[in-house]
Amino acid sequence: MELFEKKFYESMSSKVALLNRITYYIVNRKGKQMRPMFVFLTAKLLNNGEVNERTYRGASVIELIHTATLVHDDVVDDSNKRRGFFSVNALWKNKIAVLVGDYLLSKGLLLSIDNGDFDLLKIISVAVREMSEGELLQIEKARRLDITEVVYYEIIRQKTATLIAACCSLGACSVKPDSTDVEAFRKFGELIGMSFQIKDDLFDYGEERIGKPTGIDIKEQKMTLPLIFVLNKCSKAEKRWLINSIKNHNKDKKRVKEVIAFVKENGGLEYAVKKMLAYKEEALALLATYPDSEYRNSLELMVNYVVDRKK
Ligand code: IPE
Ligand code: IPE
Ligand code: MG
Ligand code: MG
Repeated sequence: MELFEKKFYESMSSKVALLNRITYYIVNRKGKQMRPMFVFLTAKLLNNGEVNERTYRGASVIELIHTATLVHDDVVDDSNKRRGFFSVNALWKNKIAVLVGDYLLSKGLLLSIDNGDFDLLKIISVAVREMSEGELLQIEKARRLDITEVVYYEIIRQKTATLIAACCSLGACSVKPDSTDVEAFRKFGELIGMSFQIKDDLFDYGEERIGKPTGIDIKEQKMTLPLIFVLNKCSKAEKRWLINSIKNHNKDKKRVKEVIAFVKENGGLEYAVKKMLAYKEEALALLATYPDSEYRNSLELMVNYVVDRKK
């Protein structure tokens, strides 16, 4: 990971001083770096603990793209906090955040192209397309009060799970191109990604300090699993109150708190936790079909971390 971090920072460099200032700001507030870890551990599991230059480049591309999407996501969500500090849009405004996100995306794609990693580039490009579609699908559907659970799963699969799927399939592909492991690990990553986003949506109902705002989903009228579940099981009158609160009083802090309390009282969080754990178990079952090794144990720890993490 130390070597990765060095390569990752180098991969962002630019001749434009403003850009370097911003990328410097970004790398100094690093995230959990779970995605590169999934890349390395998958590669190691399949290749007796060995990784290669393709694995390193692939991990950098993924983290570059992840960073780009977070910079853009905070513009889309109008969010001023990220990783415990101000977001790029909060400090430099939306115009600059949009361009910085584009820059990071192109640097990521070029890192693959310049080194002829076209098989990895394909995996990454599919993920980028799906993430954009997922964010747009969310804008189209997540504000609808009749959103179904099925649509919710499709949104989170596209916006979040595909990138984690790409981590694991890319890790596999970097050491074992054209093997059936590439698809198996894509599926493994997708399952992890589903539980990862359900966890993220659960954070929004909490009050813990997670380095980014909580309680903003309802404010932005974004329906996530706990609320979708409760909307579908409560009485007509309660549903009317919920819908009215979300539609007409979503900026009223007291009312939003009441909605959150209502979701909690009606088992919304328990239900989401149950679904999150079901995805996790499916991922672990897939992993268990591979022979025991220290890398498999580490991946297992990572999967458990996704659902137990505190930020
Ligand atoms: C945040 O991802 C974006 C989501 C898909 C929920 P992470 O929680 O992995 O972000 P960092 O990189 O650790 O900040
Ligand atoms: C995840 O969306 C970010 C992307 C997949 C681009 P969210 O908007 O739910 O994530 P956070 O909570 O801001 O990290
Ligand atoms: Mg978002
Ligand atoms: Mg967001």
